Amino acid sequence: MTTTITPLIAGNWKMNGLRGSLDELTALAGMLTTGEAPRAVVVICPPATIVAAVARQGASAGILAGGQDCHAAASGAHTGDIAAGMLADAGAQYVIVGHSERRAAYGETDEQVRAKAEAAIGAGLKPIICVGETEAERDAGNAEDVVANQLAGSIPDAAEQHEVIVAYEPIWAIGTGRTPSNDDIAQMHGSIRRQLTDRFGEKGAGVRILYGGSLKPQNAREILQVENVNGGLVGGASLLAKDFYTIISAV
Ligand code: PGA
Repeated sequence: MTTTITPLIAGNWKMNGLRGSLDELTALAGMLTTGEAPRAVVVICPPATIVAAVARQGASAGILAGGQDCHAAASGAHTGDIAAGMLADAGAQYVIVGHSERRAAYGETDEQVRAKAEAAIGAGLKPIICVGETEAERDAGNAEDVVANQLAGSIPDAAEQHEVIVAYEPIWAIGTGRTPSNDDIAQMHGSIRRQLTDRFGEKGAGVRILYGGSLKPQNAREILQVENVNGGLVGGASLLAKDFYTIISAV
């Protein structure tokens, strides 16, 4: 892990969570405030319906809230969509854009993801921009090229002046219990770092690169110490306070 970057651990609750799930948030807040102070920035990205509640209830424990997606436009005739400004208004400080589940289910392109990231920045949010290869792309030896293309297309030029976060999530590792080897993670994160510094210079050297995909209490310590891994994006294991706390503590 690059020591000058404060790691960030973000929980992606996906389409899970009712107001009752805030018991887990209360439990997590208790663990974070009674134990040793966390060495990571802690973010939870719940469904949009409870972003405001997470932002409000997490605040005293330093838990920040994020959205899981936003529209590229600030407002308008987009039934069912949520603007970045609305998430900010609800208390969010971050928003995930370009998650592979959205790229797959809604055909989101790099160009659309970039527009969403721009909208997020415009609304004062920090976009967590997701990239990652399929298993077939990795098997064919194309993983680095695929990710490089996604990065080039998905990160807006505004990243030169504003904070963005990159999340590398190999699609075949999401929700499967499988993870790349530490060497593979180091190689990919190193390649992402080079691309960021080539494009954004010093600023690129300070961009957090999160690892995501079956990050669990059992593997967090090992994965989070890999070079250029500046935190994690956690799906399943973020739903239970105890598991998520163990991952945060692994930093
Ligand atoms: P997972 O999901 O931790 O359940 O694999 C990660 C993600 O999709 O962000």
